[in-house]
Amino acid sequence: MASAGFLLLTLAVLNSAGSSQGYGFVKIHCKTQNIGQYEQESRLDCVIHYSGEVKDPEILVVIWSREGFEEPILKYENGKLTSLPGYSFAEPSWNNKNVNVSLLIHKTAVKDEGDYTCYVCTDGGFNTNQTRLNVTAKYGVPTIQPQPQDIDLSTDGSLTCKSTGYPKGRLSWFDKDNKPWLDQPEVEVLKTENGLFILSSTLKIQGGSAFSKYTCKVFNARGDEEAEESFISGGSSQSHAQSSVEIHCKTQNVGQYDQQSRLDCVIHHAEDLEDPEIVAITWMKEGVEEPYLNTTMENLHRCLDIHLLNRPGTTRT
Ligand SMILES: *[C@@H]1O[C@H](CO)[C@@H](O)[C@H](O)[C@H]1NC(C)=O
Ligand SMILES: *[C@@H]1O[C@H](CO)[C@@H](O)[C@H](O)[C@H]1NC(C)=O
Ligand SMILES: *[C@@H]1O[C@H](CO)[C@@H](O)[C@H](O)[C@H]1NC(C)=O
Ligand SMILES: *[C@@H]1O[C@H](CO)[C@@H](O)[C@H](O)[C@H]1NC(C)=O
Repeated sequence: MASAGFLLLTLAVLNSAGSSQGYGFVKIHCKTQNIGQYEQESRLDCVIHYSGEVKDPEILVVIWSREGFEEPILKYENGKLTSLPGYSFAEPSWNNKNVNVSLLIHKTAVKDEGDYTCYVCTDGGFNTNQTRLNVTAKYGVPTIQPQPQDIDLSTDGSLTCKSTGYPKGRLSWFDKDNKPWLDQPEVEVLKTENGLFILSSTLKIQGGSAFSKYTCKVFNARGDEEAEESFISGGSSQSHAQSSVEIHCKTQNVGQYDQQSRLDCVIHHAEDLEDPEIVAITWMKEGVEEPYLNTTMENLHRCLDIHLLNRPGTTRT
């Protein structure tokens, strides 16, 4: 309400100043997009441009406001400057001849993200323009929490990876060869009271088939990697044959009736196995005695993708 009253007053002032002064003589050039770093200073750049007709202009009013917020963020009027705590002109000793009316946000918060309006009234005319602030908070190095605490390769357990940032990114798990896990666990998203996102992803580990190294990487909203953390398991018993080779399979496959279906499985091997060769592969189905595939390998590739004819009952592993 106060600002409506104020605007009427301003228009009255402008009317009395003469009809030759209005939008045309004053422009505000604003940077349309600004990126602010969380907890750092952000600047919303706006500069007044006068047309040649305006002689020795003086700024009477500057108002910075946000859509949906009643109270202006910053207001200069009748020689008096008021602002909400944490906001000011970017120019430290701004005066009413200074065309740089950029707004400074001292400590950027997620809630500062949004559209801003800058209104300027001078004795040579008035105008308004808009600008936007997007906030980013770099995702930190993830933490990996094992469950149980003293996770042992011979029993089942899980690793939970977490990282916090803004805007929403994603987490991905990688194996020791930096290959992405075939079956990525779902990423849960929580919000901190400051509006940041906590991403969380829990990888289940099957006892007896554990790997020596698990890496969790965090990617920002643009898809760039921001940080990673690795979990290196106990260092112990990597020597038994059982754990030096792993087969990673997609846990669920859906097949279309009468179409080809593929059950995806890929072999991973421990770092101490040099140039390993596959000797044999067997595919069996539960409850069926005869193997579907049983080969002694000479020349099969590392990838075990096989094509099965789709029959009812073979669509799931
Ligand atoms: C608003 O800012 C943009 C970008 O600087 C500029 O192109 C446009 O002319 C401005 N509009 C007004 C009304 O000043
Ligand atoms: C406005 O003032 C700030 C603070 O002095 C400065 O960093 C910025 O570059 C100025 N903007 C323009 C467009 O001159
Ligand atoms: C800023 O955020 C808006 C809305 O989320 C988005 O559309 C726009 O692309 C973002 N701009 C930049 C430069 O990141
Ligand atoms: C697969 O074939 C090999 C060699 O012919 C044989 O020793 C083995 O028992 C077979 N495996 C199954 C599960 O039938």
